Amino acid sequence: MARIFIISNRVAVPKAGLQPGGLEVALKATLKKHTCVWLGWSGELSDTARTQTFHKGRNAYVVTDLGGDDFEEYYNGFANRVLWPIFHYRLDLAEFSRRDLSGYWRVNNQFADELVQRLKPDDIVWVHDYHLIPLAKVLRERGVNNRIGFFLHIPLPPPEILTAMPNHDTLIPALGDYDLVGFQTDGDAANFARYLARELGTPTHISHRLGDGERAMRIGTFPVGIETREFNRLAGRAVRTQLVGQVMKSIPGVLMIGVDRLDYSKGIPARLEAYERFLAAHPEWHGKITYLQITPKSRSQIKEYSEMAEAVNATAGRINGAYSNAAWSPMRYVNRPYSRTALSGLYRAAKVGLVTPMRDGMNLVAKEFVAAQDDEDPGVLILSRFAGAASEFGAAVLVNPYDPDAVGAAIARAMAMPLEERRRRHSELFAALLRNDIADWGDNFLKALGTGNKLRAIDAIKDFVPPAGIA
Ligand code: G6P
Repeated sequence: MARIFIISNRVAVPKAGLQPGGLEVALKATLKKHTCVWLGWSGELSDTARTQTFHKGRNAYVVTDLGGDDFEEYYNGFANRVLWPIFHYRLDLAEFSRRDLSGYWRVNNQFADELVQRLKPDDIVWVHDYHLIPLAKVLRERGVNNRIGFFLHIPLPPPEILTAMPNHDTLIPALGDYDLVGFQTDGDAANFARYLARELGTPTHISHRLGDGERAMRIGTFPVGIETREFNRLAGRAVRTQLVGQVMKSIPGVLMIGVDRLDYSKGIPARLEAYERFLAAHPEWHGKITYLQITPKSRSQIKEYSEMAEAVNATAGRINGAYSNAAWSPMRYVNRPYSRTALSGLYRAAKVGLVTPMRDGMNLVAKEFVAAQDDEDPGVLILSRFAGAASEFGAAVLVNPYDPDAVGAAIARAMAMPLEERRRRHSELFAALLRNDIADWGDNFLKALGTGNKLRAIDAIKDFVPPAGIA
């Protein structure tokens, strides 16, 4: 049977005590169903390019160290100082250097070398995220003819933004070496199709295909889901744990929660400003609401991230300074990470979930918040219209995160929302989660990629039809 090779920058090597990250949760069903080899960075730096292999069940995990230069140029450099900001529509934050770009290609070549040594002709290759855009190209150069799919977990901006990226004309067309390129939303797929039409002259009516015959690239939309029922059960148990009990006992009134990696795309400063406006406009809620913002630090070696950490600290301090009294503080700002179980219980205990990124590929916090709720008495999700999840979550309270007054008003609305409306919205959101559970995501992608039979017609993919008006 064909094995699935999963390639991503981070690999969730199963080790006792390690919390599963987003990618592991997304891939769990695939790892259970298939024989997989998951390959990527070990998370460690060394000069010897050490590679280690771990096994769990029938799956193998192959992780390789990066050199200090690789880490700086590939990870901190091109991936997170150029691709991350530009793909999140932040051209103003991009810092391009040719050196970083060449480090990026070098690491893609390093991963390709590791892969080729292990690949058999009928294995399927599934590449994840912006760190590895040119991987298929470098694999094809090594004579690899296997089916190779790519899934972008983050947004893809329109060509008007993408073309401002130096060397976009070598990097983005390299996606043409995949058999299938998957996006989180139709909007991202449409942006890619428009890029192909504008830059490569691919006629829009066949823009879902690039090339001929067997090696035609296809575009598909595969919104990442979660394990809805399992997460709901987890939350039902976790809400009774000591941690959640202590949190709830320690606050007067109700809990509002936000959980995000410390990243400028998540809109934390604007969210805090919105909360400040809410507090200014609604003194009747003083002493009755506590906003818990859990924000583990990330990518701290990059300037924008460390600067943001200070700015958010200062704003949280200002809000508490302005509104706290001896018995109540309006917010708690916490940088330490919490386990998935603890988070599930806190989501269930919260009356409001605030998920207001300025731009986000999907946002699984939004999905987990909904999955965690008690359907008899559910909390309210306030969601940015610029999160990928908004395309499935029309029943959330959708907001424009650039408008702090509107987000402040949405908080007031959520706090006062009658039970009947909360239940109606929640049942629609929960149904949307069930329609697209996590097992479907891996299945749909791999089916579209043609698992098990290279020549079978790809039937699961929705052929991409560009929206009317796209030139
Ligand atoms: C996003 C990306 C992932 C990445 C994660 C954490 O979700 O889509 O590919 O792994 O952020 O970022 P980090 O830089 O810590 O891997």
